[in-house]
Amino acid sequence: MKFSIAPLKSLSSLQTDALIVFLHQPGTSCGLVEADVVDPFAAEAVQDGDFSGALGTTYIRSRPASLAARRLILVGLGAAPASSAGWLKALQAAAAALKPLAARQVHLLAADGESFLAEFAPRAFGEAAYRYTATRKVEADKAYKVDAVHVLSRHPRQAAVLKAQLARAEDIQAGVDLTRNLANLPANHCTPTHLGRVAQDLGKRHGIKVEVLGRGEIERLNMGSFLAVAQGSEQAPRFIVLRYDGAGKKDAPHVLVGKGVTFDTGGISIKPAAEMDEMKYDMSGAASVLGAFEAIARIKPRINLVGLIPATENMPSGSAIKPGDVVTSMSGQTIEILNTDAEGRLILCDALTYAERFKPASVVDIATLTGACVIALGHVNSGLFSPDDALADALLEAGRQAQDSCWRMPLSDDYAEGLKTHYADVANIAGRAAGSVTAACFLQRFTKAYRWAHLDIAGTAWKSGAAKGATGRPVPLLVSYLLNCAGSAPKA
Ligand code: BES
Ligand code: MN
Ligand code: ZN
Repeated sequence: MKFSIAPLKSLSSLQTDALIVFLHQPGTSCGLVEADVVDPFAAEAVQDGDFSGALGTTYIRSRPASLAARRLILVGLGAAPASSAGWLKALQAAAAALKPLAARQVHLLAADGESFLAEFAPRAFGEAAYRYTATRKVEADKAYKVDAVHVLSRHPRQAAVLKAQLARAEDIQAGVDLTRNLANLPANHCTPTHLGRVAQDLGKRHGIKVEVLGRGEIERLNMGSFLAVAQGSEQAPRFIVLRYDGAGKKDAPHVLVGKGVTFDTGGISIKPAAEMDEMKYDMSGAASVLGAFEAIARIKPRINLVGLIPATENMPSGSAIKPGDVVTSMSGQTIEILNTDAEGRLILCDALTYAERFKPASVVDIATLTGACVIALGHVNSGLFSPDDALADALLEAGRQAQDSCWRMPLSDDYAEGLKTHYADVANIAGRAAGSVTAACFLQRFTKAYRWAHLDIAGTAWKSGAAKGATGRPVPLLVSYLLNCAGSAPKA
C-alpha cells in the first residue's frame, strides 16, 4: 500500500475513489474553508439520524452530487478535541468501512489533526489490509482493495513535517508486519533455525551485523539454563545477536532481549491440549525484537542497538528436563526447575547475563512470560516491571505516544520469597499468587549490572477467538522508546 501527503487544492473537484472526512460531534461541520461542499451532506446525514459524529462511527454516501469524489465517507471523532487514541480509533473505523467497498484510492481529510492522520494511517490501514499468506492463499474477494492512501494537507508549509511523520509511521508498520508474519507462522515452519535465517536476512537487507550461534557455541558460553530447555527438543537451539550501530563507538548500546520459544508444550509439566496451538506465538518477544530492528534499520536513528534472542522449542521427551532438576546458569547461579513450563525465564536469564558484556545504557526484555499477566491486565496493557523509575516512566510514555500501552506492575523482594529452595540458589517458580511478579523477580536476579525493564506481553502479543492472530505489539512501543532515547522522536 502506498501512502502520501497530497496538497488540498479544490475539495469539490478532487478526483478520488473515496473522500474520507473526519468530523467532530455533532458531526455537522468539517470546519474547513470549503465546508460548504461537505457540510450539506453531513447535515442531512445527521438530520436523518444516520450519523452523529460519535467516535468511530461512519457514514457512506455514493456519488455525492457536487463532488468529483466517487464516495464521501464521514467518520466521527467524538467530542473535540480528539485524543491520539481517538484518532487511531477513527482511522481504524475508516479503514474497516472500506473493507466491503471497491475503492482503491482514498483521500483523508481533517480540519485539525493532520499530523495524527500521518502518524496513524499506516497502522490503521496496515491492520485492515493485513492478510496471513505464508501457508495459504487469500481469495480475491477477501483481499483489501485500497492500495493508495493520501493524507490531504491544507498548509504547504506543513507538508514536509507530515511527510516525515508518515514515512516514520510506515517504517514502524513494516516492523509490525514482520513481527506479525513471524509470530503467525506455525511452529513446524518457524523453528529456531528459521528465526536465525530471518535475522540473517534482515541483516543482509539493511547492513546490520548478525551472528547466529549454534549449540556448540551456546555450550561454550555456559548457558546451562537455556540449554536445559533446549535439551528435550529435536530442533537445534539458536542464540541470535543483532547489532545496529547508528551512533558513535563509545555510545553505550540499548539492548532488547526477546523470548524465542518457537513452541511451548510445557515440557514434562505438559500443558492441557485445549488451545495449545497458541503456544506457537511463544516466540512473539523474539519476533518483536526483529520487528523493532526492521523499523530502526529503516529509520536509522543515532543510537546503538543490540538484539539478543535465545530460540528453542520446549518439548517433552526422553532427554527433556524433569521437575526437580538443578541446572547451572551462565551467571553461575544454580536453578531448581520445579516446573518445566516456566521455561521462558530459564532461557531469558542466560541472555540477560550475556547482555552484561555490552555495558548497556538499558536492557529491555520482551516475553510472553506468564498466563498470570493475562489474568492481571487482560489484552489491553502489556505488563511492565522495572526497579528503575526513570526507565519505567520512559517506557510508559513511549507506550502512550505509540498507542501501544503498558502498565507498571510491582517488583519487590517481598515477592521473591517464594523462589527460595533448599536445592539451588533459586527455584524457577513460586506459588500461584502474583505469578507475573514472581517471574519478573526471577529475571531480576540476573540483571544487577545494568538498568533493566521487563515487558510481559502474554496478553497483548496475539488475539484469540474469531480475530485470532499476532498483533505486532509491542513493536510501536519499543520503537518509540528507542527513538526517544536517540532524541529524534517526531514532533507531536
Ligand atoms: N508461554 C507461557 C506463558 C503464557 C501462557 C502465555 C498462556 C500466554 C498464554 C509460559 O512459558 C508459561 O507456561 N508460564 C507458566 C508459568 C507457570 C508454570 C509458573 C504459566 O503462566 O502458567
Ligand atoms: Mn511455558
Ligand atoms: Zn512459554
